[in-house]
Amino acid sequence: MIDKLTLDLKQFPVTPYIAHPYALQANFTGRKQERKMLTDWLTGGNHPMLSVIAIGGMGKTALAWYWLMEDIKGSDEQPRKIVWWSFYDYESGFGRFLKKAIEYFCDDEVDWNSLESTRDQMEFLYKILCDNRFILVLDGVERVLRAYYNLGSPYQGDEVKEDERVDFRACIEPNCGMFLQWLGSGNPRTKTLLTSRLFPKELDDFDGVVSKGLKAMDKEDAVDFFKRQGVKGTRAEIEEVCRAYGFHPLSLRLLSGMIIRDLRYHCDIKAWTRHNPLPKLLPKEHNILELAYNSLDEKKQRLISRISAFRSPMNYDTVAIFNDFGSEEKFNGVLRELVDRGLLFREEKRAKVKLDMHPIVRWYCYKERLTDKEKVHSKLRDYFATIPEPERIESVNDLTSVIELYQHTVRAGGYDEAMVLFHNRLHGDLYYKFGAYQTIIELLRALSPEREDKVPRLKNELAQAWTLNALANSYANSGRSREAISLFEMSNEIYKKQDANKQHLAICLGNLADNQMRIGELKVAEANFRRMIEISREIKEGFEEAVGHRKLGQLLAYQGEFGESEKEIEAAIKIAQKLGEKTK
Ligand SMILES: Nc1ncnc2c1ncn2[C@@H]1O[C@H](COP(=O)(O)OP(=O)(O)O)[C@@H](O)[C@H]1O
Ligand SMILES: [Mg+2]
Repeated sequence: MIDKLTLDLKQFPVTPYIAHPYALQANFTGRKQERKMLTDWLTGGNHPMLSVIAIGGMGKTALAWYWLMEDIKGSDEQPRKIVWWSFYDYESGFGRFLKKAIEYFCDDEVDWNSLESTRDQMEFLYKILCDNRFILVLDGVERVLRAYYNLGSPYQGDEVKEDERVDFRACIEPNCGMFLQWLGSGNPRTKTLLTSRLFPKELDDFDGVVSKGLKAMDKEDAVDFFKRQGVKGTRAEIEEVCRAYGFHPLSLRLLSGMIIRDLRYHCDIKAWTRHNPLPKLLPKEHNILELAYNSLDEKKQRLISRISAFRSPMNYDTVAIFNDFGSEEKFNGVLRELVDRGLLFREEKRAKVKLDMHPIVRWYCYKERLTDKEKVHSKLRDYFATIPEPERIESVNDLTSVIELYQHTVRAGGYDEAMVLFHNRLHGDLYYKFGAYQTIIELLRALSPEREDKVPRLKNELAQAWTLNALANSYANSGRSREAISLFEMSNEIYKKQDANKQHLAICLGNLADNQMRIGELKVAEANFRRMIEISREIKEGFEEAVGHRKLGQLLAYQGEFGESEKEIEAAIKIAQKLGEKTK
């Protein structure tokens, strides 16, 4: 009996792990067919992965969230464990996903010593997902694809120049792409729902993945939604307006928000159309954003644009630094209005209210309408500078406020200041302690705002060379040798000009040659190792010289020149022994 009870308890659903709750807005309507399609896939379909693909604002996240919370949670179909992971949020990259998912699935009892490498963690997690019938929702996957992954992406719109980048749909981290492939093939019992603006290239032609495009809202549902929002008018009148805006859910949310909150219209759709003639052609979402933004008074426009400079969901207290409305009541009233208008999302389920914006709204308010960007980022920089760093840094997450400080310092135009901050407060932990190479890449790329292959915008040449070298090392450690090589080459050019920094030049040549060796450019690698040895000898840097000999020895061995290789390794050992004696 007790055994049976324990068995039953083991089957019982546990609380889902919602890493980044979605602030579902009021009056979600319809999508019945799509929800049924999702339930059928979950309960009966034999595809382990389903992807919902559509442009921004089509309602992908809202659909996935509503279905999971209303149709699945609490029903007989609810699997024992559910993970919701959204890639929109800050610090939500693939590495962190692995760690948090493993912790949740293992009820926090994880032996991390046996899971040192990313690959170990991937295999461990995959095994759990193969053996158990769970649900994994990966929301906003475009953020881990090349087209959207960069520092600007919180502020990025929908336009992707397809021809500019061949691999624009590919995952930025090869491990992430591989893990998606695992989830979408074989026979994992866990089902993965993926939402994205673009379909990941790695999943092309995978039999286990079914891809569904999400279409605009049903016309009946659109009218119902407007009515529930409080818009007055006949069905035909409402439908005509919704059609003019392509039944695009984000547009409909902003339209209805405007009609009910703008006093000129008294919630009446006819009054609204009198002021706003319907467009003849289907407008771009840009147009509706412009209407919604322009219908705010100047002060509110300024506030929403300033809020858009935050990079992730924020607490009320943080947003309040932009309160120039006098009292707190007035400020609260304005925030509430912005929520009603659909411009701000309010997430209430956490202990503290969090405010967020749809990525497209953020992009518009920031990119197109924020006029004093540097000033606003300076203010945010000053704000984050006051937040004390935690005493113990145990994860990248503990560095969040320093990272925010860095980001806003860059965007306030303080490149040199930002580089010093990175060098002194971030690099050691990110590189040596956490191996957070992806984060380093994201952060340092921001110092070359025009193009990644340009020298960073720093006054001091040595700072430029150091930054290029640090960036290149992170590329190299992420398996991206080609990118690393061109950065090491740029860094070398700077060191070459500086007589006082020959040691750096030697180290950098060694790094460059390592990567050339990895991609099979053995002849140039050999020349660079020899040059490294020569320079080190010239400046009497025994350690670097020994490293050079050892690496060259390795390279020669790969080429089958064992005699030459042995000589180099012996030279390395000899120098190392001498150095050892000196330090005794
Ligand atoms: N079925 C729906 N009913 C009401 N509002 C919706 C519906 N689907 C989406 N929306 C609204 O449209 C906006 C965009 O939805 P979201 O799911 O965030 O888009 P996506 O993830 O595709 O970019 C949100 O404001 C959301 O509340
Ligand atoms: Mg979304």
